[in-house]
Amino acid sequence: DPHETILSIADLEKAASKKMSKTAGEFYNSGSQDQTTIRENSTAFSRYRLRPRVLVDVSGVDTSTSVFGREISFPLSVSPAGLQAMAHPDGELATSRACAKRGVNMAISSYSNYSIQAVRSAGTSIGCFSHAIQLYTMKDREMQERIIRTAEAEGCSAIFLTADSPVLGVRYNEWRNDFRTPEGLEFPILEKTTEDIRRQTHDGTFVGFNDDSHNWDREISWLRSITKMQIWIKGVLTAEDTELAVKHGCDGIIVSNHGGRQLDGVLATLDALPECVEAAQGRIRVHVDGGFRSGTDMFKALALGAECCWVGRPAIWGLAYDGEAGVNLMLETMHNEFRRCMQLTGCKTVNDITKASLARIDADGR
Ligand code: FNR
Repeated sequence: DPHETILSIADLEKAASKKMSKTAGEFYNSGSQDQTTIRENSTAFSRYRLRPRVLVDVSGVDTSTSVFGREISFPLSVSPAGLQAMAHPDGELATSRACAKRGVNMAISSYSNYSIQAVRSAGTSIGCFSHAIQLYTMKDREMQERIIRTAEAEGCSAIFLTADSPVLGVRYNEWRNDFRTPEGLEFPILEKTTEDIRRQTHDGTFVGFNDDSHNWDREISWLRSITKMQIWIKGVLTAEDTELAVKHGCDGIIVSNHGGRQLDGVLATLDALPECVEAAQGRIRVHVDGGFRSGTDMFKALALGAECCWVGRPAIWGLAYDGEAGVNLMLETMHNEFRRCMQLTGCKTVNDITKASLARIDADGR
């Protein structure tokens, strides 16, 4: 059994990283500039400890929750991460199948190596679940609208407008390695062939189509005028921007720092989460991603008020390790740990996970 030694997400990361080229591994695993934010996304969890309640009957523990108006099996889903076919030839198709099997949702990056139709149908032929389509603001609004029309026709539930990327972050690894998308891979959602892509660096491609003049008023009202899909803002880290998302009638926010790949030195998402939850006052949904590597990490974010957590790199590691089976293994590992964490803290449903489930300690452990 090739899965025998993979017991944790850390095991999966190690096994997957051995299978990738140096350039691919660095592209997936690095953060920006000094790597501060990518590191703190994960270490932030260690400043919280659990406050378990004992002698609770947890025999019928229920890990399910509801997102986009539909039940998912536990509060985790797969973040939009581009270029998944570089990790495994089946790329986003494999991720979609694994999400369908585990009963969680998936967001499709606009840098997906497969089309929205292909990714959607790979999963929906297996089970009922939701896809969000991730968008950046594009110079070519007609293309952006074509993508939205396709996403609607295919039954996607939501747009994730990624708001933290007017330009790409300072990514030394990409510049040092002259990172380019490997031969043969395409970005069909962006209508880019392999030849188009090979001509430019990743940064060059991004500058070519991304509109850095984006702003709250124009983007949200324009999206609202052309689609009935839910509109979520991905990349919110402050109470102020949470308030703006509410004011502009968005359906939800993803508290995210792009996995530490954009502005280095921002708050870890777990540390930004409380102010966003407080500002939201239940008027808007609050999800979070960045550094989630165990079911206990998920539990802590839920206790701080997040409704659902998302993971980027763990899905990539699953793909690199063993394609669809590897993503399955990642989701099973997270689910098993989350379920046990609920049982061991005396939580029968996700609604039982509250502020009282956590204690905050100082950085030095007191
Ligand atoms: C990303 N992320 C990302 N986000 C987005 O909105 N559009 C995108 O195309 C991408 N592409 C992308 C590629 C790769 C290789 C990674 C690792 C990440 C960010 C992603 O959605 C998510 O916010 C982070 O990955 C979450 O952090 P973790 O779970 O990777 O620590």
